[in-house]
Amino acid sequence: MVSLTLLQGVSLATMKVAIVQNRPEFGRVQANLDRVEKMLAGKAADLFVLPELFATGYRFKDMDEARQFAEPVPDGQTTEFLLSLAKKFNAYFIAGLVEIENDRIYNSSVIVGPEDFIGRYRKIHLFDTEKSCFDTGTDVPPVFDLNGAKVGVMICFDWRFPETARSLALKGAEIIAHPSNLVLAHCPQAMITRCLENRVYAITADRVGDESRVPDETLHFIGQSQVVDPDGNILVRASETEEEVHIVDIDLEKSRNKFLNSKNDIFKDRRPTLYS
Ligand code: ACM
Repeated sequence: MVSLTLLQGVSLATMKVAIVQNRPEFGRVQANLDRVEKMLAGKAADLFVLPELFATGYRFKDMDEARQFAEPVPDGQTTEFLLSLAKKFNAYFIAGLVEIENDRIYNSSVIVGPEDFIGRYRKIHLFDTEKSCFDTGTDVPPVFDLNGAKVGVMICFDWRFPETARSLALKGAEIIAHPSNLVLAHCPQAMITRCLENRVYAITADRVGDESRVPDETLHFIGQSQVVDPDGNILVRASETEEEVHIVDIDLEKSRNKFLNSKNDIFKDRRPTLYS
Protein backbone atom coordinates (compact mmCIF):
# COMPACT_ATOMS: atom_id res chain seq x y z
CA MET A 1 0.00 0.00 0.00
CA VAL A 2 1.49 3.31 -1.03
CA SER A 3 2.03 5.84 1.73
CA LEU A 4 -0.34 8.69 1.07
CA THR A 5 1.22 11.26 3.35
CA LEU A 6 2.01 13.59 0.46
CA LEU A 7 -0.46 12.51 -2.13
CA GLN A 8 -3.69 13.25 -0.33
CA GLY A 9 -3.16 16.94 -1.01
CA VAL A 10 -2.15 17.59 2.59
CA SER A 11 1.52 18.41 2.69
CA LEU A 12 2.57 16.67 5.87
CA ALA A 13 6.22 16.77 6.81
CA THR A 14 6.84 13.03 6.80
CA MET A 15 7.30 10.95 3.70
CA LYS A 16 8.71 7.66 2.51
CA VAL A 17 11.60 7.84 0.06
CA ALA A 18 13.11 4.98 -1.90
CA ILE A 19 16.50 4.34 -3.48
CA VAL A 20 16.59 1.90 -6.37
CA GLN A 21 20.05 0.46 -7.07
CA ASN A 22 20.14 -1.53 -10.31
CA ARG A 23 22.68 -3.23 -12.60
CA PRO A 24 21.73 -2.26 -16.16
CA GLU A 25 23.04 -4.30 -19.07
CA PHE A 26 24.44 -1.82 -21.56
CA GLY A 27 22.03 -1.08 -24.41
CA ARG A 28 19.28 -3.52 -23.36
CA VAL A 29 16.74 -0.82 -22.56
CA GLN A 30 13.55 -2.88 -22.49
CA ALA A 31 15.16 -5.64 -20.42
CA ASN A 32 16.50 -3.05 -17.97
CA LEU A 33 13.08 -1.41 -17.63
CA ASP A 34 11.44 -4.80 -17.08
CA ARG A 35 14.01 -5.65 -14.42
CA VAL A 36 13.37 -2.39 -12.53
CA GLU A 37 9.63 -3.02 -12.63
CA LYS A 38 10.23 -6.46 -11.08
CA MET A 39 12.49 -4.96 -8.39
CA LEU A 40 9.70 -2.59 -7.39
CA ALA A 41 6.98 -5.23 -7.03
CA GLY A 42 5.24 -4.78 -3.68
CA LYS A 43 7.19 -1.63 -2.72
CA ALA A 44 5.53 1.54 -1.46
CA ALA A 45 6.98 5.05 -1.17
CA ASP A 46 6.10 8.66 -1.96
CA LEU A 47 9.29 9.30 -3.94
CA PHE A 48 11.48 6.80 -5.80
CA VAL A 49 14.94 7.86 -7.01
CA LEU A 50 16.68 5.73 -9.66
CA PRO A 51 20.25 6.01 -11.02
CA GLU A 52 21.65 8.18 -13.78
CA LEU A 53 21.16 6.50 -17.23
CA PHE A 54 19.45 3.62 -15.43
CA ALA A 55 17.88 2.08 -18.54
CA THR A 56 20.72 2.34 -21.07
CA GLY A 57 23.92 1.84 -19.13
CA TYR A 58 26.63 4.48 -18.88
CA ARG A 59 29.65 4.20 -21.16
CA PHE A 60 28.72 5.36 -24.63
CA LYS A 61 31.64 5.23 -27.02
CA ASP A 62 30.86 8.65 -28.45
CA MET A 63 28.03 11.06 -29.09
CA ASP A 64 26.84 9.12 -32.16
CA GLU A 65 26.27 6.08 -29.97
CA ALA A 66 24.57 8.16 -27.25
CA ARG A 67 22.30 9.60 -29.96
CA GLN A 68 21.11 6.08 -30.86
CA PHE A 69 19.73 5.74 -27.33
CA ALA A 70 18.52 9.32 -26.91
CA GLU A 71 14.84 10.02 -26.34
CA PRO A 72 12.74 13.13 -26.58
CA VAL A 73 11.35 14.19 -23.20
CA PRO A 74 8.59 13.67 -22.21
CA ASP A 75 7.53 11.57 -25.21
CA GLY A 76 10.21 8.88 -25.07
CA GLN A 77 10.10 5.26 -23.94
CA THR A 78 11.81 5.78 -20.57
CA THR A 79 9.78 8.79 -19.46
CA GLU A 80 6.60 6.98 -20.48
CA PHE A 81 7.70 3.94 -18.48
CA LEU A 82 8.37 6.13 -15.42
CA LEU A 83 4.99 7.81 -15.85
CA SER A 84 3.28 4.44 -15.88
CA LEU A 85 5.12 3.51 -12.65
CA ALA A 86 4.18 6.86 -11.07
CA LYS A 87 0.51 6.16 -11.77
CA LYS A 88 0.74 2.55 -10.62
CA PHE A 89 2.54 3.41 -7.35
CA ASN A 90 0.81 6.77 -6.83
CA ALA A 91 4.26 8.25 -6.29
CA TYR A 92 6.91 10.55 -7.74
CA PHE A 93 9.85 9.14 -9.74
CA ILE A 94 13.18 10.79 -10.53
CA ALA A 95 15.58 8.95 -12.85
CA GLY A 96 18.27 9.49 -15.47
CA LEU A 97 18.15 9.02 -19.26
CA VAL A 98 19.73 10.20 -22.50
CA GLU A 99 17.71 13.11 -23.83
CA ILE A 100 17.66 14.57 -27.33
CA GLU A 101 16.33 17.98 -28.22
CA ASN A 102 17.16 19.87 -31.44
CA ASP A 103 19.89 17.32 -32.14
CA ARG A 104 21.58 18.11 -28.83
CA ILE A 105 22.21 15.16 -26.53
CA TYR A 106 21.95 15.56 -22.77
CA ASN A 107 22.61 13.43 -19.71
CA SER A 108 19.28 14.28 -18.08
CA SER A 109 17.05 13.35 -15.21
CA VAL A 110 13.28 13.47 -15.46
CA ILE A 111 10.76 14.06 -12.70
CA VAL A 112 7.29 12.55 -13.07
CA GLY A 113 4.28 12.21 -10.80
CA PRO A 114 1.01 10.29 -10.78
CA GLU A 115 -0.69 13.08 -12.71
CA ASP A 116 1.89 13.94 -15.33
CA PHE A 117 5.42 14.74 -16.41
CA ILE A 118 6.81 17.46 -14.10
CA GLY A 119 10.22 18.48 -15.36
CA ARG A 120 13.80 17.69 -16.29
CA TYR A 121 17.36 18.58 -15.39
CA ARG A 122 20.30 18.41 -17.79
CA LYS A 123 23.62 17.63 -16.11
CA ILE A 124 25.86 20.70 -15.94
CA HIS A 125 29.13 19.10 -14.77
CA LEU A 126 30.07 16.35 -17.23
CA PHE A 127 32.57 13.77 -16.00
CA ASP A 128 35.59 12.67 -18.04
CA THR A 129 34.50 10.91 -21.27
CA GLU A 130 30.93 12.21 -20.88
CA LYS A 131 32.36 15.36 -22.45
CA SER A 132 32.57 13.55 -25.80
CA CYS A 133 29.14 11.92 -25.47
CA PHE A 134 26.84 14.69 -24.23
CA ASP A 135 26.20 18.37 -24.55
CA THR A 136 26.49 20.30 -21.29
CA GLY A 137 23.27 21.43 -19.68
CA THR A 138 22.86 25.18 -19.50
CA ASP A 139 19.85 25.55 -17.19
CA VAL A 140 20.00 26.28 -13.47
CA PRO A 141 19.52 23.09 -11.41
CA PRO A 142 15.82 23.02 -10.55
CA VAL A 143 13.76 22.66 -7.40
CA PHE A 144 10.28 21.16 -7.74
CA ASP A 145 7.37 21.37 -5.35
CA LEU A 146 6.20 17.75 -5.14
CA ASN A 147 2.97 18.25 -3.26
CA GLY A 148 4.61 20.20 -0.45
CA ALA A 149 8.07 18.63 -0.54
CA LYS A 150 10.72 20.87 -2.15
CA VAL A 151 12.95 18.54 -4.16
CA GLY A 152 16.10 19.71 -5.96
CA VAL A 153 17.79 17.59 -8.61
CA MET A 154 21.44 17.12 -9.47
CA ILE A 155 23.24 14.27 -11.27
CA CYS A 156 26.25 12.28 -10.09
CA PHE A 157 29.47 14.33 -10.64
CA ASP A 158 27.59 17.51 -9.72
CA TRP A 159 28.44 16.41 -6.15
CA ARG A 160 32.07 17.45 -6.74
CA PHE A 161 30.97 21.09 -7.09
CA PRO A 162 29.55 22.18 -3.73
CA GLU A 163 27.89 25.14 -5.44
CA THR A 164 25.35 22.75 -6.98
CA ALA A 165 23.93 21.49 -3.70
CA ARG A 166 24.28 24.93 -2.14
CA SER A 167 22.33 26.66 -4.90
CA LEU A 168 19.58 24.01 -4.70
CA ALA A 169 19.37 24.49 -0.92
CA LEU A 170 19.32 28.29 -1.23
CA LYS A 171 16.44 27.90 -3.69
CA GLY A 172 14.55 26.03 -0.99
CA ALA A 173 15.33 22.37 -1.63
CA GLU A 174 14.63 20.24 1.43
CA ILE A 175 15.68 17.08 -0.38
CA ILE A 176 18.33 16.68 -3.06
CA ALA A 177 17.56 13.82 -5.41
CA HIS A 178 20.85 12.60 -6.89
CA PRO A 179 20.66 9.98 -9.66
CA SER A 180 24.22 8.69 -10.06
CA ASN A 181 26.60 6.25 -11.74
CA LEU A 182 29.44 6.59 -9.25
CA VAL A 183 32.98 5.58 -10.16
CA LEU A 184 34.86 7.81 -7.69
CA ALA A 185 35.08 6.44 -4.17
CA HIS A 186 34.58 9.68 -2.26
CA CYS A 187 31.04 10.58 -3.17
CA PRO A 188 29.06 8.68 -0.51
CA GLN A 189 31.13 10.32 2.26
CA ALA A 190 31.15 13.72 0.52
CA MET A 191 27.36 13.75 0.37
CA ILE A 192 27.33 13.68 4.18
CA THR A 193 29.15 17.02 4.07
CA ARG A 194 26.73 18.40 1.46
CA CYS A 195 23.87 17.53 3.82
CA LEU A 196 25.58 19.11 6.83
CA GLU A 197 26.51 22.26 4.89
CA ASN A 198 22.94 22.79 3.76
CA ARG A 199 20.83 20.93 6.33
CA VAL A 200 19.07 18.96 3.59
CA TYR A 201 18.32 15.32 2.92
CA ALA A 202 20.19 13.74 0.01
CA ILE A 203 18.96 10.68 -1.85
CA THR A 204 21.78 9.26 -3.96
CA ALA A 205 20.64 6.40 -6.21
CA ASP A 206 23.63 4.61 -7.72
CA ARG A 207 24.13 1.48 -9.84
CA VAL A 208 26.37 -1.55 -9.43
CA GLY A 209 28.39 -3.66 -11.88
CA ASP A 210 31.14 -3.05 -14.45
CA GLU A 211 31.25 -1.86 -18.04
CA SER A 212 34.10 -2.69 -20.45
CA ARG A 213 32.94 -1.04 -23.62
CA VAL A 214 36.23 0.52 -24.65
CA PRO A 215 39.56 -1.39 -24.93
CA ASP A 216 41.71 -1.08 -21.79
CA GLU A 217 38.99 0.70 -19.87
CA THR A 218 36.78 -1.04 -17.34
CA LEU A 219 34.48 1.13 -15.32
CA HIS A 220 33.47 -0.16 -11.91
CA PHE A 221 30.36 1.34 -10.33
CA ILE A 222 30.52 1.48 -6.55
CA GLY A 223 26.88 1.09 -5.46
CA GLN A 224 26.37 2.40 -1.91
CA SER A 225 23.19 4.25 -2.81
CA GLN A 226 22.12 6.08 0.30
CA VAL A 227 19.79 8.45 2.09
CA VAL A 228 21.51 10.99 4.37
CA ASP A 229 19.67 13.34 6.74
CA PRO A 230 20.37 17.04 7.52
CA ASP A 231 22.49 16.06 10.55
CA GLY A 232 24.73 13.89 8.37
CA ASN A 233 23.29 10.58 9.56
CA ILE A 234 23.25 7.81 6.96
CA LEU A 235 19.66 6.55 7.21
CA VAL A 236 20.36 3.71 4.81
CA ARG A 237 23.28 2.71 2.60
CA ALA A 238 23.04 -0.08 0.03
CA SER A 239 25.77 -2.63 -0.70
CA GLU A 240 28.61 -2.16 -3.18
CA THR A 241 27.55 -5.08 -5.37
CA GLU A 242 23.85 -5.96 -5.27
CA GLU A 243 20.65 -4.72 -6.84
CA GLU A 244 18.60 -3.36 -3.95
CA VAL A 245 15.61 -1.20 -3.09
CA HIS A 246 15.52 0.56 0.28
CA ILE A 247 12.74 2.68 1.70
CA VAL A 248 13.08 5.05 4.67
CA ASP A 249 10.88 7.59 6.42
CA ILE A 250 12.10 11.16 6.47
CA ASP A 251 10.83 14.23 8.31
CA LEU A 252 11.01 17.41 6.25
CA GLU A 253 10.75 19.62 9.36
CA LYS A 254 14.35 18.64 10.03
CA SER A 255 15.55 20.16 6.74
CA ARG A 256 13.34 23.24 7.13
CA ASN A 257 15.11 24.14 10.38
CA LYS A 258 18.49 25.69 9.56
CA PHE A 259 19.45 26.31 13.21
CA LEU A 260 22.44 24.40 14.58
CA ASN A 261 21.90 25.86 18.03
CA SER A 262 19.95 28.82 19.41
CA LYS A 263 22.42 31.32 17.87
CA ASN A 264 23.49 29.83 14.52
CA ASP A 265 21.17 29.68 11.55
CA ILE A 266 23.48 28.33 8.85
CA PHE A 267 21.76 30.29 6.07
CA LYS A 268 21.24 33.57 7.93
CA ASP A 269 24.86 33.46 9.18
CA ARG A 270 26.29 33.28 5.67
CA ARG A 271 28.45 36.29 4.65
CA PRO A 272 28.04 36.31 0.85
CA THR A 273 29.45 39.83 0.50
CA LEU A 274 32.75 38.51 1.88
CA TYR A 275 32.92 35.51 -0.44
CA SER A 276 34.27 35.71 -3.96
C1 ACM B 1 29.51 10.40 -13.10
O1 ACM B 1 29.29 11.60 -13.03
N1 ACM B 1 28.64 9.55 -13.60
C2 ACM B 1 30.78 9.85 -12.60
